[in-house]
Amino acid sequence: MSLQEYAMMGGQGEAFIELMDVKKIYVSDGVPTEALRGVTMAIKRGEFVAIVGPSGCGKSTLLHIVGGLDRPTSGKVIVDGIDFNKLSDDDLARVRNEKMGFVFQFYNLIPYLSVFRNVELPLIVKGIPPRERRERVLMVLDEVGLADKAYSKPTRLSGGEQQRVAIARALVNEPAIILADEPTGNLDSKNKIAIAELFKRLNEKGRTILVVTHDLEVASYAGRILYIRDGRIEREEVRS
Ligand SMILES: Nc1ncnc2c1ncn2[C@@H]1O[C@H](COP(=O)(O)OP(=O)(O)O)[C@@H](O)[C@H]1O
Ligand SMILES: [Mg+2]
Repeated sequence: MSLQEYAMMGGQGEAFIELMDVKKIYVSDGVPTEALRGVTMAIKRGEFVAIVGPSGCGKSTLLHIVGGLDRPTSGKVIVDGIDFNKLSDDDLARVRNEKMGFVFQFYNLIPYLSVFRNVELPLIVKGIPPRERRERVLMVLDEVGLADKAYSKPTRLSGGEQQRVAIARALVNEPAIILADEPTGNLDSKNKIAIAELFKRLNEKGRTILVVTHDLEVASYAGRILYIRDGRIEREEVRS
């Protein structure tokens, strides 16, 4: 998208997530790495977008910046009308907890807690009373097809099932955006497709989803694919 096209979208107030000329330079041992070299993009509410590119091209960096886990070196990030540059670190953390649901490659489940407790944790942190917690946990477990595994330990589940638990945990706070970083990177092809289909179903129910992957088959489930290379969006493909 050109800056002009972008400005037009912003002008119509359509964008839910907006990045404008976002750059990220990491410096380690005095050596700078340009991870993002000016990313401009807009995502509408209810879109399912995949960001695809080879290892090291800046995908995780981009996802972390959209999710408020990290800040750009320069450029603008606006999510749901909130300009991240204007937020203190505490306020950014609050926005992140309220609006973002994260899914990672390695599930990050707590092995000694049941599936139910893993999914319940964000609600405990938020101070939701037990009865409502129970309702919401069972509802999202049902949504990811794991209601019958609520009282199993994650270690007893397959990789695909563990990732579905992680997705349920990301959903339970009803975030505005689901952000997933290589969510199928650790799965065999059958489980990979099951997870891609689950994201598609969740999107069809109205959720905004941003998935980062190097897997074109997974990306093909998204409505739009952004191809990133060397820290820049190279092209986009609209699928539906
Ligand atoms: N914390 C960091 N410190 C220094 N360099 C980093 C850091 N995180 C990522 N990088 C570098 O930034 C570039 C983009 O990384 P990343 O966003 O993780 O790419 P991807 O997720 O596409 O593999 C890579 O060259 C990587 O080595
Ligand atoms: Mg990565």
